[in-house]
Amino acid sequence: MTTITANASVAEPLTLPCGVTVKNRFYKSAMNEALAGRDCAPSEAHARLYREWAHGGAGVLVTGNVMVDHTQLGEPGNVAGEDERDLAMLRRWAAAGTENGAHCWMQINHPGRQSPITINPHPLAPSAGKIDGEYGRFFAEPTELTRDQIRGIIRRFANTARIAKKAGFTGVEIHAAHGYLINQFLSPLDNRRTDEYGGSLANRARFLFDVFEAVREAVGPEFPIAVKLNSSDVPIAVKVNERDDAPGGFNEEESIWVMKQLEARGVDLIDISGGTYAKPVIQTNDGAAEDRRRGVYFTDFARRIKGELTVPVALTGGFRNAADMNRALNDNITQMIGIARPFALMPDLTNRIIRDGWQGSVDLPRITTGITSLDKTFGGVLVISWFELQMHRIAQDRRPAPHIGGMRALLFAVKQHGPAALAPRRRKGRQ
Ligand SMILES: Cc1cc2nc3c(=O)[nH]c(=O)nc-3n(C[C@H](O)[C@H](O)[C@H](O)COP(=O)(O)O)c2cc1C
Repeated sequence: MTTITANASVAEPLTLPCGVTVKNRFYKSAMNEALAGRDCAPSEAHARLYREWAHGGAGVLVTGNVMVDHTQLGEPGNVAGEDERDLAMLRRWAAAGTENGAHCWMQINHPGRQSPITINPHPLAPSAGKIDGEYGRFFAEPTELTRDQIRGIIRRFANTARIAKKAGFTGVEIHAAHGYLINQFLSPLDNRRTDEYGGSLANRARFLFDVFEAVREAVGPEFPIAVKLNSSDVPIAVKVNERDDAPGGFNEEESIWVMKQLEARGVDLIDISGGTYAKPVIQTNDGAAEDRRRGVYFTDFARRIKGELTVPVALTGGFRNAADMNRALNDNITQMIGIARPFALMPDLTNRIIRDGWQGSVDLPRITTGITSLDKTFGGVLVISWFELQMHRIAQDRRPAPHIGGMRALLFAVKQHGPAALAPRRRKGRQ
């Protein structure tokens, strides 16, 4: 039985539809750790990072996206979990992430056409056609998936979920947001198929539902399955005028319909997000200034769906202090508090709030190289690399270092993954 109660506090346990209880409302949202090498294998570094987070007190730790196919990566440093070759290390990772009563759920993903050209010259997508606009040049033209290939990818999702469970992860999150493959199927702009996987919303959502059913079959009825879904393909918190709507894109009405269908099919939690590669959920390098401007992300959407769903929701983005978290729970617009970047700076944020009654706010720094043109050129890569650097520090048993500059983050990314780490913005800079 799910228990959704108003006036819950961050410290209260939550029972999911599958019967599993998580110990509190802190949901560490997925962040690609970028800790894997070219072999896409997990390592002791993953175990150390997740042990630190587990002891920090959060109820659920969602891993960075783990790819279901090592030839189709979303970004350098991804782990791929397509077979059992790394089972021993996956076991160590899962064991570390579930210390201290934490849940550790593996986020599983396929990037579709959102797979950078520097690491994937042959991406696959629901329909052929490059990504529109300035971002198009960072991605090779994808091949349209055949029905056999679609069925193959559905089996891959199920297989990765099965391996996650075998390794000791205590749940999985299917990544259906941020413009990756499942999101591409959902979007009428990306999906122009004329078979049963394209056209009407029911057809565009068929791939997600098939993936969900196959994963459920693989892990059984008592294993948590979450789905990360866009409230719409444009992060609504930054909508300033009508032009910012993605006309014809996956929209709020469609998202609500998909959520209800997932609820009917037995999903355990919906992680609400938004945006795509071209319009990312993280908009700027402004840190706390951006946070103050935006507040908690997707709040209006969460209010809109309040009372429409019985399945627990994790609202992700912009939570920086206990007051906002408890307000969102009290208003019953979310049942879990999704947090990503603050955990890379303060791994024990949960303990501080629940155990120590900390009333402060995690102020994310403005991330800059000190050179405006470089900041502009590298933009999103700069922010992502900076947070990856912080996760690497934690994985080396070092403390996060909020004062590290953007230049060091870029150099770190190149050292770690070669020039591919900077590919998108660097290519833009060359034009
Ligand atoms: C370095 C980094 C890596 C991320 N990787 C993922 C990912 O693998 N999967 C995902 O769903 N979201 C990913 N995100 C997005 C976060 O889960 C989250 O939606 C976003 O950061 C907003 O939450 P926040 O304001 O608490 O950081 C990533 C964010 C960052 C900063």
